[in-house]
Amino acid sequence: MRVLVTGGAGFLGSHTVVQLVAAGHEPVVVDNFSNAKHGVISRLEQLVGRTIPLYSFDLREQDRIRAVFHGERIDAVIHFAGLKAVGEGVRQPLKYYRNNLESTFALIDAMHHYGVRKLVFSSSATVYGPDAQMPLVEGSPTSATHPYGWTKVMIEQVLHDLTVAEPTWRVGVLRYFNPVGAHPSGLIGEDPKDVPSNLMPYIAQVAAGRRKELYVYGDDYDTPDGSGVRDYIHVEDLATGHLAALAAVDRGGWPLRLWNLGTGVGTSVLELVHAFEGVLGRPLPYKVVARRPGDVAESYANPTKARNELGWRATRSIDQMCADTWRWQQANPSGYEDDLSSEDGLDSTGRPSSPVADSISRQARSRGSAAVVERPPQSQ
Ligand SMILES: NC(=O)c1ccc[n+]([C@@H]2O[C@H](COP(=O)([O-])OP(=O)(O)OC[C@H]3O[C@@H](n4cnc5c(N)ncnc54)[C@H](O)[C@@H]3O)[C@@H](O)[C@H]2O)c1
Repeated sequence: MRVLVTGGAGFLGSHTVVQLVAAGHEPVVVDNFSNAKHGVISRLEQLVGRTIPLYSFDLREQDRIRAVFHGERIDAVIHFAGLKAVGEGVRQPLKYYRNNLESTFALIDAMHHYGVRKLVFSSSATVYGPDAQMPLVEGSPTSATHPYGWTKVMIEQVLHDLTVAEPTWRVGVLRYFNPVGAHPSGLIGEDPKDVPSNLMPYIAQVAAGRRKELYVYGDDYDTPDGSGVRDYIHVEDLATGHLAALAAVDRGGWPLRLWNLGTGVGTSVLELVHAFEGVLGRPLPYKVVARRPGDVAESYANPTKARNELGWRATRSIDQMCADTWRWQQANPSGYEDDLSSEDGLDSTGRPSSPVADSISRQARSRGSAAVVERPPQSQ
């Protein structure tokens, strides 16, 4: 299938793009690089051995997303694009609501206009309310405690209402638990732009000496060692889950389905730290501090529905997650180097200034006005 991957330059999108190509699909990426670097594209092309069609713009630009559907024969969409930092969303709620909701509306509108009805959407375990019973099943009540979480709850509701009104849609909603790890090549991985807000990249940066020590928020929860318990899932397993969901959406037979993508196994913060220490062969500096407001003691999935309906399950261990994270971190101490050296990727003679810019501009040339050579990444 020709699959539009929104947010395909991001952490989860990039790993999924690699697996899509390996499975014989043709991914087409749209990303505004608000939380990604252009350097990821050349790494992706190195991994898959060919050019990936890339459109660099904000999904909310309705004309541009329509132009992509007009110019490419898109069969299905995987919608990763979105802002995801919980704390930033609390400080700038409108930015989060606008970005995540409006980009989804623009996408759905374009899909509707061009008759594309197959969609896999990136939701999150954050949609489960703080009082839900463990393990979390897809029927557990949904709620949110912060704007980012509400954007996911709201988009799920929009998709539900859409598919009730128009049952020809085929929508798979994936509720991810805690994706970590990296591609085993060490070429692509998670590259947080600022201070990592998730545990694993923070651990990796402490291990690399980029940060002094790790803070463990609370060791007095009602869990085996007192630290918070989460369901960590290897990004490669998560990517496989998307291929399984895409196949299910393609088979169809229903308008909307929800699936948890988790391992079903809870791991505590301290267990994860010790697993990483095992890979490193040395202790990591950490300090236990007060609980963070809003954190729950434990959160882990019941992944049975995905196993039964998608034939998918996570196979990679915590040790593998740590080893792959560490390989990526060591090989890329500062993350992706950004290859664009001039404002728009063209040098003073108008020629591409880098291989990445070349790859983008090659497509701009071959696709006329639909593809664009954009400015370097900007924060919104
Ligand atoms: N990583 C996690 O822990 C996690 C957990 C649950 C759900 N999710 C969801 O999965 C999706 C992907 O997460 P990720 O970890 O890969 O994040 P990411 O930030 O690495 O990737 C998201 C990508 O979307 C792009 N983007 C954002 N807004 C855009 C817009 N308006 N137009 C075009 N591109 C835009 C960003 O530049 C980025 O490359 C997100 O929707 C996120 O909310 C992530």
